[in-house]
Amino acid sequence: MMTLQGRRVLVAITGGIAAYKCVELVRRLKDRQAQVRVLMTESAQAFVGPLTFQAVSGEPVHTELLDPAAEQGMGHIELARWAEFMLVAPATANHMARLAQGFADDLLGAVWLAHAGQKIIAPAMNQQMWRAPAVQRNAAVLQGDEVLILGPASGAQACGDVGPGRMLEPADLLAQLEALCFRKDLHGLKVVVTAGPTRERLDPVRYISNFSSGKMGYAVAEAFAERGADVDLVSGPVQLSTPVGVRRIDVESAGEMHKEVMLLASFADVFVATAAVADFRVDAVAAQKIKKDASGLQLNLVPNTDILADVASLSEECRPFVVGFAAETQQVQHFGRDKLERKRLDMIACNDVSAPGLGFGSDRNALWLLWKDGSCQLAEASKKHLARQLVDHILEQRTRQGVHD
Ligand code: PMT
Repeated sequence: MMTLQGRRVLVAITGGIAAYKCVELVRRLKDRQAQVRVLMTESAQAFVGPLTFQAVSGEPVHTELLDPAAEQGMGHIELARWAEFMLVAPATANHMARLAQGFADDLLGAVWLAHAGQKIIAPAMNQQMWRAPAVQRNAAVLQGDEVLILGPASGAQACGDVGPGRMLEPADLLAQLEALCFRKDLHGLKVVVTAGPTRERLDPVRYISNFSSGKMGYAVAEAFAERGADVDLVSGPVQLSTPVGVRRIDVESAGEMHKEVMLLASFADVFVATAAVADFRVDAVAAQKIKKDASGLQLNLVPNTDILADVASLSEECRPFVVGFAAETQQVQHFGRDKLERKRLDMIACNDVSAPGLGFGSDRNALWLLWKDGSCQLAEASKKHLARQLVDHILEQRTRQGVHD
């Protein structure tokens, strides 16, 4: 799907070492057939020459506030009106401050003020600078002005420090821009998604869990959010960042997940249970670390409440459209259909978690979707791609099974 095709993106580059990554970003935008123009501040030109960006964008690069070549010498207004998206990348601490205050004494500041489309910044700076209260204040002001802040990422920095402050990679920025371009046809739809594993404590230092990374559930939450749905993501402990536009509620155990989901589910239109919820917990968590004993350790496990089944049992007037997942290692469709019927679900997405490279932890998966009188197979693909297809099928079945807005 070419979501960026024909979209008008203005990439404004300020003076940071990450400016070189924008060459790749502009190239990738052009590959997606976006229309791209580039603006550079004076300090950005110390890092990469305008000719490089002219070559990759195929357009002259804008560097001057008063442009004698532009109609009426008002190049900044024309440029601001032309752009649908204005992305400042890398956004230095200095330029964040200037944009937050509304300075218009250079081309970037003037175009920023005159631009009525979506404004986005991708900060890049030293980790201590990023943490500085003044920078955080400016970030909050920009967010209050409805500027979308993408990143920064954490990791090793050009100055040798490690921490938050790296500009997002071009591929990540591109994915976020693509998400913004999706049709926003799900405004008003309330969705609750569970994701990740749960942890069931044994004692203060040990727990029972599983290999879920949360990738599938986060992709589902993102796929709904990018179309404008109102998404709550109830997440077990994972190492993923929250998708744009998603409200995330962090939980640890199945009991906590159950509590948070039940608070939300009766107000939701759709519930998708992607989480790998631990089926058992110990009957009593030890207050102190359990001591090693040569005779071994006996655990008394009791079943956790089934969150999905509880949501599916809500009374008709407050029951959402309920979608479960089934992680199977054999007879995938057979066991999936059994869960669909037993838990009284509207749909179930079954995956073979024994298939190499798919399922738990992987970026890829393959699904069988089952509902009362039908099924369909979603061939192996990235979890993000599958999640978008899944959303389409959920909406179709929800309409077909008689739920109308
Ligand atoms: O997180 P990833 O690394 O991306 O991996 C994705 C995944 C393999 C975890 C995902 O695709 C998946 O299959 N999720 C469901 C895992 C699971 O627990 O399956 P199950 O067959 O044991 O449970 C069936 C359904 O009941 C699931 O929707 C589960 O969320 C739900 N359940 C189970 C137990 C419980 N106490 N409460 C529940 O809600």
